[in-house]
Amino acid sequence: MTNQDLQKADDGRVLIFDTTLRDGEQSPGATMSHREKLELAEMLDEMGVDIIEAGFPIASEGDFAAVKAIAERTKRATICGLARANIKDIDRAWEAVKPAASPRIHTFIGTSPLHRAIPNLDQDQMAERIHETVTHARNLCDNVQWSPMDATRTEWDFLKRTVEIAIKAGATTINIPDTVGYTAPVESADLIRRLIAEVEGGEDVIFATHCHNDLGMATANSLAAVAGGARQIECTINGLGERAGNTALEEVVMALKVRNDIMPWSTGVDSTRLMAISRRVSTISGFPVQFNKAIVGKNAFAHESGIHQDGMLKNAETFEIMRPADVGLKETSLVMGKHSGRAALRSKLKELGFDVADNQLGDIFVRFKELADRKKEVYDEDIEALVRAQGAGEEAVQLKFLRVICGTEAPQSADMTLRIDGEDRQVTAQGDGPVDAAFNAVKSLVPHEAQLQLYQVHAVTEGTDAQATVTVRMEEDGRIVTGQSADTDTVVASARAYIAALNRLLVKRRTTEAGSDTKAVSYKDAG
Ligand code: KIV
Ligand code: ZN
Repeated sequence: MTNQDLQKADDGRVLIFDTTLRDGEQSPGATMSHREKLELAEMLDEMGVDIIEAGFPIASEGDFAAVKAIAERTKRATICGLARANIKDIDRAWEAVKPAASPRIHTFIGTSPLHRAIPNLDQDQMAERIHETVTHARNLCDNVQWSPMDATRTEWDFLKRTVEIAIKAGATTINIPDTVGYTAPVESADLIRRLIAEVEGGEDVIFATHCHNDLGMATANSLAAVAGGARQIECTINGLGERAGNTALEEVVMALKVRNDIMPWSTGVDSTRLMAISRRVSTISGFPVQFNKAIVGKNAFAHESGIHQDGMLKNAETFEIMRPADVGLKETSLVMGKHSGRAALRSKLKELGFDVADNQLGDIFVRFKELADRKKEVYDEDIEALVRAQGAGEEAVQLKFLRVICGTEAPQSADMTLRIDGEDRQVTAQGDGPVDAAFNAVKSLVPHEAQLQLYQVHAVTEGTDAQATVTVRMEEDGRIVTGQSADTDTVVASARAYIAALNRLLVKRRTTEAGSDTKAVSYKDAG
């Protein structure tokens, strides 16, 4: 470890532990590809996150490969892999994180009465299991994090006992998860304070806080835990995570920065990178960022009312507690047009936080030119939306042609050609509206039983020629996938989003059949 971690904490630092790639990715429908995980890990490392929880290596071959590749490539951050409280999980996690310059094993077990009932262990048996597994992890790696899952609903005496056992067995970080988002700020601070004061060996470890947002208090609970003595916050970009999600990284980082007068702790995160990574996570996960989301929402710095606008023009501090530039938000600018070349596009993409390879640039450039021909003004948001189509050329199903006929007379119809595994297939389908007709066309060309769970449309910018971003989420046999696309034509964007989700489903079907589905093992099977 960790002498280094303790040293940092002594210097008034709070360590930022990002679990977007593990807890965030567990959010139904937020599955990320290998390439996407590597890209996000690099962004997290570059922005100054201290620890990246890269995945749950025992869960699948895919998870293992992603954690290992991230461990091999990451330059600065500690790379952590999750493991349940058994030797097989821990060995697998170690194999994956071992190549990292700074590896960490994170092992956990559910300690509350409800969670103890799952592996059917009594308190003594569980204490023994914790001793055994943490000792094993520590024999492999000198940086071991231990978590009593559902700590906030665990009896105090048992929680204290288990934490002491983990510390004696060699854990260097003790994480206190509020697994079901049940605690409240006063309680969160008190719990950490009491653990530090009463647990034997508590002064030699870092206490961490891991909050879920079921009651909308995750950020407040995390900051309260820091006030109580925690020196590591576990969080995700955009608060991505199961159910209502995890603590949002951007919120705790900016709260500590803006209110450093009353919360005198710093992080190593470069806040000017928050907006770019937020958008990238939204695109990759298919989870749109709520418009009024703190820090990274589209409206977080928008001033609509006359009084606000007037005040802002006189003095920005009238209504702004942080500057848009502090989180990496630039004024929406019209800088690109149909005469812009490849070099200009590459530098624009770089400015927006995308480092694209030459072959991807070619694809994006073609789509940019098409867009510039159709759209009067090309904004930064339009260009970001184009990046979403990146990689579309490699997919099994591609949209080649779509024409819909719609009007006041039902039914509407769609002529569609899809390239499926290299072969063009055509159909005409009808539906209740143009989107329904287009979806029916896709369904007749690629038959499937998946149920549509979500269909959402957002305008990327203002104006009737704005691009529409469409998100589609589908479920088939417990596999949930999302697809996103953007186009000035809402029906085209919808069809592309549907096809993107379908392509992900085809990949998931294949990996499940091959026995390596990413959700093959659930971290909730805590035994
Ligand atoms: O919420 C939780 O308890 C977790 C643990 C695995 C740390 O994510
Ligand atoms: Zn969690």
